[in-house]
Amino acid sequence: MSTEFPRDFLWGAATSAYQIEGSPLAGGAGPSNWHRFAHTPGNITDGDTGDLACDHYRRYAEDVDWMARIGLGAYRFSLSWSRVLPEGRGRPNPKGLDFYSRLIDLLHERGIEPMVTLFHWDLPAALEDRGGWLNPDSASWFADYAEVAFRAFAGRVRLWATLNEPWVVSDGGYLHGVLAPGHRSLYEAALAARNLLRAHGAAVTRFRSEPQGKIGLVVNLEPKDPATGSATDVAAATRADAYMNRQFLDPVLLGSAAEGLAEIYGDAWVDLEGGDRASVAQRLDFLGVNYYTRGVMSHDESAWPVRASRVKVEGRLYTETDWEVHPEGLTRALCWVKERYGDIPLYITENGAAFPDPARVAGPRIEDPLRVAYYRDHLLAAREAIRRGVDLRGYFAWSLLDNFEWSSGYSKRFGLVHVDFATQRRTMKASGHYYREVIRSHGAALDVPVAS
Ligand code: BGC
Repeated sequence: MSTEFPRDFLWGAATSAYQIEGSPLAGGAGPSNWHRFAHTPGNITDGDTGDLACDHYRRYAEDVDWMARIGLGAYRFSLSWSRVLPEGRGRPNPKGLDFYSRLIDLLHERGIEPMVTLFHWDLPAALEDRGGWLNPDSASWFADYAEVAFRAFAGRVRLWATLNEPWVVSDGGYLHGVLAPGHRSLYEAALAARNLLRAHGAAVTRFRSEPQGKIGLVVNLEPKDPATGSATDVAAATRADAYMNRQFLDPVLLGSAAEGLAEIYGDAWVDLEGGDRASVAQRLDFLGVNYYTRGVMSHDESAWPVRASRVKVEGRLYTETDWEVHPEGLTRALCWVKERYGDIPLYITENGAAFPDPARVAGPRIEDPLRVAYYRDHLLAAREAIRRGVDLRGYFAWSLLDNFEWSSGYSKRFGLVHVDFATQRRTMKASGHYYREVIRSHGAALDVPVAS
C-alpha cells in the first residue's frame, strides 16, 4: 500500500444539482436562473436544457450504486436552492429537503461521506427578479438558506462548502454573459463579486453559531504563465492571476483586496466595507481547489477587462474544452496556496477532463485512455504536492457522470460513468475502472504506467 496519501484521505467524485438532477420543477421546487437561462433560445449549444439531465432526481439510488461500484469514500454534490426554498426565501419545501435527506442517508448506508456545496450557480429565479447577486440583501438571503440546510442535515453532513467558484459566477454570469444570468457589465461583475464574498462570510457566521462540522469555500485556480518573457506578457499574466486567482482568496484568507484589482476594474471597482471585510476573512476550516488547466497569457488590449488573453502552446495536449493538459499546474496551484496563505487544509474539489466519448455505447465498457492518463498524471501531481508538505485531505474527480456542461449542454462529457442521454443508461468508462483501482490500492496503482 502506498503510504503517501494520508490514511484518511478522501477519494471522491463531484457533481452539481442543475447539471445532473433534472426535474427542475418537481415536488414543489421553484425555477432557478439556470432554468430560465437554458430555456432562452441561443444560450446553450443545441438548445439543450437541464430539464432531464441525468435524471438523477429520480435515479439517485442507482447513482449511489455507481459510486459504490467505483469505491468512492466521498461524494460532493450541491443543493438546488430553489428546491429547498422555491421562492429563494421564506418557507422551506419539505419535498425538496426530503430528496436530499434520502440521498444523504443512502450515502451513509454505503459508507460514502457527503460534502455539500450550498451554491453551485443555480440561483432561485425569484431572487434573480430582485437583482440576484447585485442586490446587497443577497448575502443575508444566502445565509438564511444556508441555515435551513445546516439545520436540516445537522449531524449527517460534516463537510460544507459555501460557494462554488464565485469568480466564474461574476465573470461568466455578469461580465461575459455566457452563464446565467447572462449579463455583460463590468460594474455588475464587481458588485456581484463583492456580494458573493459577503454571502460567503454571512453563511460562515451562521455556521459558527451552531458548529457541527467543517465549512470551506471552493475556488478554481489556474497558475498564470506569461507566453513570452516580455515585460508586457509578464504583466498580463500578473493581472490575470489577480483577477482569477487572488480576487477571492486574498480577501478571504488575507483580509485584503488583491493587488492590481482596482486597476483592472477601473471606475467599476467596489471594495468590501469595514464590517464585511472581517466577516469575509473569518477563519475557514478548509479550502476547496478546482483545477483543470493553467493559463498561458499574452498581452491583449482587446481582452476585457484584464488585457490578457490565453494562448495555445504548440505540441501540448488540449482537452475538448480547449484546456491544456498540464498536471504540474496542479502541484503548483496547491503549493502556491500553502506559500501564500499558509497551512489551510485543502481538498481538490474538482479535477477532470472532457474528451470525446461516443453518445451511444455498444458494449459493457468504454475506453477513454486520454482521461485515464489525465487522472493518473493529476493524481501523481496531487501526491507530489503532499510530498512537498501540502495538507491535502482529499480528491474529487469531476465528474461522477457525464452531465449538463453549462453553455455547452450535453456536448462535453466529463464523467467516470458514461450517460446515454437518450436512454439514461449508465456505463462505466475505463477511467471509472482505473479510479476504482487507485482507490482500492490507496494510490499505489498510480505507480504503474498507463497507455495514452
Ligand atoms: C464547474 C463545473 C463544470 C466544470 C467543467 C467547473 O468550473 O464547477 O460545474 O462542469 O468546471 O467545466
